[in-house]
Amino acid sequence: MLNIQNNVKLATYTTFSIGGKAKYLVEAENLADIRQAVEIAKDKEVPLLIIGGGSNLLISDRDFEGLVIVNKLKGIKEIRERNSNEVLVTAKAGEVWDDLVKYTTKRNYWGLENLAYIPGTVGACPVQNIGAYGREIKDTFVSLEALNIEDLTLRTFYLKDCNFGYRSSIFKEGLKGKYIIVSVTFKLSLLPAPALDYGSLQEEINKEVVNINAEDVRLAVEKIRKSKLPEPKEFGNAGSFFKNPEISQEEFEKLKEKFPDIKYYDLPSGLVKVPAGWLIERAGWKGKDLGLAGVWHQQALIVVNKGGASFNDIKFLTKTIICEVKDKFGIELTPEVNIIE
Ligand code: EPU
Repeated sequence: MLNIQNNVKLATYTTFSIGGKAKYLVEAENLADIRQAVEIAKDKEVPLLIIGGGSNLLISDRDFEGLVIVNKLKGIKEIRERNSNEVLVTAKAGEVWDDLVKYTTKRNYWGLENLAYIPGTVGACPVQNIGAYGREIKDTFVSLEALNIEDLTLRTFYLKDCNFGYRSSIFKEGLKGKYIIVSVTFKLSLLPAPALDYGSLQEEINKEVVNINAEDVRLAVEKIRKSKLPEPKEFGNAGSFFKNPEISQEEFEKLKEKFPDIKYYDLPSGLVKVPAGWLIERAGWKGKDLGLAGVWHQQALIVVNKGGASFNDIKFLTKTIICEVKDKFGIELTPEVNIIE
C-alpha cells in the first residue's frame, strides 16, 4: 500500500532547508509507487512536484497544495562486454549521485570522477546537465528512461534527444514537468582517461599523485569542493545560485576596457563566458549578509541560509545582487537553481 503523508514540511527535503508544507507527499520506492502517486494527483486534480535530493531547489514558504513525489528508486547495474574497454553503468534515479560516482571510481571506471561530491540524486543530474572541473554528465551519458506523466508510458531518451547545454536540457525546457526520470545510463572507460585541464584540479593532483587512478581524481575533487563550498548541513544552500553568463565578444571587449582584470573563457560558440562569482565579488557581495541570507565567503556564487532564512530572504538577497551586478556590469544574472514560487 502506498504511504501518502499529509502536511509534510518540505524544508526537510531541500538542502536550502527552506520550503512550506506539502499537502500530500509520497516517498516512491519503485515505479509502481510513482505511477500510483501520479494517478492520485490526477484524481485529486492537484499539481505534482518531483523531488530528488532537493539540492537545486528553492521552494516557497507557502504551503504547496499538491502532491510531492520524492524519488527513492534505488539500484546500480553494469554491463561489460567482453574485449571492450568500456562499461555501461545504469543507476536508478533515487541513488545518491555521489554514491554512484564512488561506485565507479572504486572500480577504476573513468568518466564521472570530476563530478564528485555534487549533492543530489542521479535522476536530477540530467535535468540540468550537472558539470564541474571541465566535465558535464553529457560527456558520458548514453540514455535515460523516463515516465510520461500524461499517459504513464516509459520512454528512452538518447543523448541526441536531451538537448543538453550548459546547465540545461530538454527536461528543464520544452519537456519541463512532463516526465519523471527513472534511471540513467553512462558509458565509462576502463582505460585511464583523466580530464585535468581545470587549473585547480591539475594543481591538486600534481601535489599528491604519481600513478593516477579515477579514485585519486575523485578524492582531489572532493578536497577542492570541501575547501570552497559550504556543507548544506551547516549552512543551507543549493550550490551555485546563478549561471555563469555568456555574453557577446562586443559586450566583452567593452567590459574588458573598464575592468581589465575580468576573468573569462572563450566558448566554441564565439560567446564569452564570464564567471558570475567574479561579478558578484566585484559588486562587493562576497561574504556579505542581508538579513538571514548571505553570500558564501569562499565562493560568491553560493547563496547560503545563515539559519532560519525564509524564501523571501533568499529572494530579496538574490534580487539585490542581480540589480547591483546589472548596474555595475550591464549583465543580468539568471538563477541556476530551480525556484518554485
Ligand atoms: N571567482 C571569483 N570570485 C568568487 C568565485 C569565483 O572571482 O567568489 C572566479 C575565480 O577566480 C575563477 C572563476 O571565477 O576564475 C571560476 O570560479 P570556480 O572555479 O570556483 O567556478 P565557477 O565558475 O564559479 C562553476 C560551476 C560549479 C562548479 C565549478 C567548478 C556554474 C554555475 N557553477 O563555478 O558548479 O563546481 O565551476 O567546475 O557553472 C553548481 O552548479 O552548483 C556548482 C557548484
